[in-house]
Amino acid sequence: MDNEITFEVIDREGQVHQIQGPTDMSFSLMEICRASDLPIEGTCGGMALCASCHCYINSDHALPPKGPDEEAMLSEALHVKENSRLTCQIPLTQALDGLSITIAPES
Ligand code: FES
Repeated sequence: MDNEITFEVIDREGQVHQIQGPTDMSFSLMEICRASDLPIEGTCGGMALCASCHCYINSDHALPPKGPDEEAMLSEALHVKENSRLTCQIPLTQALDGLSITIAPES
């Protein structure tokens, strides 16, 4: 479908989930993961203030660059790696089709 993508989420037990989400409803990656009952809390509601939506990006998709709020939060978060992102700061777009992410450990 034109307005739906599929991406892969690896949970903290190493289990792989194939997730579908719409690209025309202004959802973030975090919101779709939550709606799919994955253990991504999104405690701050997507404000880049909690890091409970922290994931590692496994694939080399072109993602929107980190904004200052995301940079600041990731500089304080635990378990941060080169490929860390806050999934609440990534809107679901066609460019994310086939993306693979791993949920970061709980901090
Ligand atoms: S939901 Fe809080 S930083 Fe993403």
